[in-house]
Amino acid sequence: MTAPSFDLNGWNRERLAQVERALEGWVTADAPQGLDHGAPAELVEAMRYAVLDGGKRLRPLLVMAAFEAVALPTDPTGAPAALRAACAVELIHAYSLVHDDMPCMDNDVLRRGKPTVHVQYGEASALLAGDALQALAFELLTPMDGSVAPATQARLCALLARAAGSAGMAGGQAIDLASVGQHLNERQLREMHQLKTGALLQGSVVMGAQCGTPDARALHALEVYGAAIGLAFQVVDDILDVTADSATLGKTAGKDAENDKPTYVSLMGLEPSKAYAQQLLAEALAALDASGLAHTQALRGLADMVVNRAS
Ligand code: IPE
Ligand code: IPE
Ligand code: MG
Ligand code: MG
Ligand code: MG
Repeated sequence: MTAPSFDLNGWNRERLAQVERALEGWVTADAPQGLDHGAPAELVEAMRYAVLDGGKRLRPLLVMAAFEAVALPTDPTGAPAALRAACAVELIHAYSLVHDDMPCMDNDVLRRGKPTVHVQYGEASALLAGDALQALAFELLTPMDGSVAPATQARLCALLARAAGSAGMAGGQAIDLASVGQHLNERQLREMHQLKTGALLQGSVVMGAQCGTPDARALHALEVYGAAIGLAFQVVDDILDVTADSATLGKTAGKDAENDKPTYVSLMGLEPSKAYAQQLLAEALAALDASGLAHTQALRGLADMVVNRAS
C-alpha cells in the first residue's frame, strides 16, 4: 500500500487559520494578565495594522512544521508552546518590517498591499508599534497559566532574542544600512543575508523543534535546513525585487537598485542567483533526508515555497 500523499495546501490552510485566530486574539488592547489597565487604543491600532490580515506567514508555518516533524503524536503537550512560538516570530518579523520601511531605513510607502505603518500613523507611532510588537513577542512566550513549561519558555526566549538581536536580524539590518553604495564580496553579502533574514527563519525552525522532543541528529538536520532556506529566502527576495511587479509583491519593486543596495542579483546576476537559490533548496531537502525524521512533508513543501514563490 502506498502512503497517502500529503495535502500541503490543506495543511497550510489549517495552520494559517489557527495562527490568524491566535494573533487576532493576542494583539489587542485588553489588559495583560495581572494588570488592571490595557494599552492605548491608537498604539494597538497601529500594531494590529502591522500584523493582521497580511503577509505569507512563512515563519509561523515553519515553526508549526518543525514542531510537528519532531513531536510524538501521542504527546500533545508542546502544541500550546508551538502556537505561541509561531505567533511570537511573526510579531518580531512584523516589527522588523515596520522599522525597515521607515524613512531612516528603506523609506518604503507600500507593504503587504497597504500604505506602510509610518505613512498611515506617523513615524513616532511606527517606531512605538514596532517596539511594542517586539515586547509582546516575548510576553507570548512567557504565559503564567502553566501551559508552557518554564524550561521551554526560557529556551524559546533565548532562541528568539538571539535571532532578533545584534547577532541576528538587527545586526544584519545594521550591516545592510552600512552597505549602501558599497561593493560586498560573496562572503560579506552572505553574512549580511544570514543575519538580517536567515537568523529569524532558522530560529523559527529551531524554536518549533524545541517545542517537541528532537534528538541531536534531528536538531542538527533542522538547523542545516533552516540555515539553507533562511539564506535562500533573502536571495529570492533580491530576485523578486528585480523580476516581480509592485502589485504582485505588495511592496514597491525595484527598491534595491533605487537605494543602491548590494544584493545577490547585483553581485552575481539574475540567472546565477536563481541557480544559487535552487542549490540552497537542494541543500535544505538533503538535510531533511539525513534527519531521520518521518514526517517532513510540510517542511519540504515550505522549502519549495520559499524558493519557488512569486511574491
Ligand atoms: C519580507 O519578508 C522581508 C524579508 C525578510 C525579506 P516576507 O516576504 O516574508 O514578508 P511577508 O511577511 O510575506 O509580508
Ligand atoms: C528586510 O530586507 C529584512 C528585514 C529584516 C525586515 P529587505 O529590506 O530586502 O525587505 P523588503 O524587501 O523591504 O521586504
Ligand atoms: Mg531593508
Ligand atoms: Mg526593505
Ligand atoms: Mg527586499
